[in-house]
Amino acid sequence: MLEAPSGLKGLIVARTQLGAVRGRQGYFHYRGHDAARLARARNLEEVWTLQIDGALPPEVEVLAPGPMRALPPSVLEVVDIVSQGPGGPLDTLRSGLLALAAAEDRGPLLDRDPDQRRHDAIRLAAVVPTILARHHRLSTGMDPREPDPNLSHAADYLRMLVGDVPDDAAVDAVQRYLVATVDHGFNASTFTARVVASTGADMAGSMVAAISALSGPLHGGAPSRALTMIEEIGDPAAARDWVRLRLEKGQKIMGFGHAVYRTTDPRAVLLRETAQELGGDLVELASGIESEILAALAEWRPGRRIVTNVEYWAAVVLELAGVPRAMFTPTFDVSRAIGWTAHILEEVSVGRIIRPSARYVGPEPGPST
Ligand code: ACO
Repeated sequence: MLEAPSGLKGLIVARTQLGAVRGRQGYFHYRGHDAARLARARNLEEVWTLQIDGALPPEVEVLAPGPMRALPPSVLEVVDIVSQGPGGPLDTLRSGLLALAAAEDRGPLLDRDPDQRRHDAIRLAAVVPTILARHHRLSTGMDPREPDPNLSHAADYLRMLVGDVPDDAAVDAVQRYLVATVDHGFNASTFTARVVASTGADMAGSMVAAISALSGPLHGGAPSRALTMIEEIGDPAAARDWVRLRLEKGQKIMGFGHAVYRTTDPRAVLLRETAQELGGDLVELASGIESEILAALAEWRPGRRIVTNVEYWAAVVLELAGVPRAMFTPTFDVSRAIGWTAHILEEVSVGRIIRPSARYVGPEPGPST
């Protein structure tokens, strides 16, 4: 028996062809393609195709999830009831996915052939924006919008959220964010999805487990908190004192620091550039405050490079694109659902249950009675 380090840190527990993160180089990729470059050059459907079918269009036919975004009446009923209750968007998402799987009679992945598994993967990831946007509108007293199969995934998500067809700049910005967050190494939710899938369980169940893992504050993050911080600081000149006060109290500065990246978080670089393209006062303010916070963190921990992470500039980009603040973290599920389903397909093809052991550290067992 080998004893794994706490939190499984530094331990390789699976093999994947889907992508990897190189923290020291500030780089991550999907199937060998620089992910930040994909986010600048390719749309979400193309990257979705890469992760599910193994190659970029035109090498393989591009996926067309548009018609798959619609929900049947029995599922709409479930989504509508949960949306109008006290729960949040992720409660509705989990309920909606399970209701859809039950309505369309999907069984355990072990009993489904590769074509059926692939179909489950695309169908269940395709409805994530529909469920989340419907939740948002119903829970804030607005009429829901039906999906439009002719729009791109990013454009339709934004339209279903805000109610009208958004402008191209907003769609492009959200699409970049979505492409850049499809996958990111063997994080907690991806690992969770693969553990459940390794038992041969169903696609929706594996995704719901992953959504639950992502919902935890230590994983899903809270870009909305980064935005609140920018607003609270209000002026770059006030940033250093604001940060010092929080650090002295042992508090974390949201949107800064990363467990893996030491030079730069390439997602922050991409989204800073995206925010600058959108322009405006908020971008100027965020930029000025970012420099001051980085300087304050460097003074506080000299030699320990604490970088701006994805959440800081994601918050600014999503705000400028018109995504409601309460939907910042759920928007992460729109893209990561694609990553999880690709990992679930890969895990099921391994066909071996993940079943580690635990060291018993309680009192010695007594004599058997
Ligand atoms: N604010 C205050 N202290 C920080 C921050 C921060 N933003 N980032 C790192 N530190 C501290 C760590 O607590 C650690 O302190 P210690 O030496 O006293 O234990 C020290 O700096 C070095 O930390 P690292 O090893 O570089 O990073 P670690 O893996 O411990 O933490 C984490 C990474 C959890 C992301 C941390 O940076 C953090 O809490 N950031 C703020 C929250 C945030 O922005 N989360 C989103 C992350 S991105 C994502 O998950 C998608």
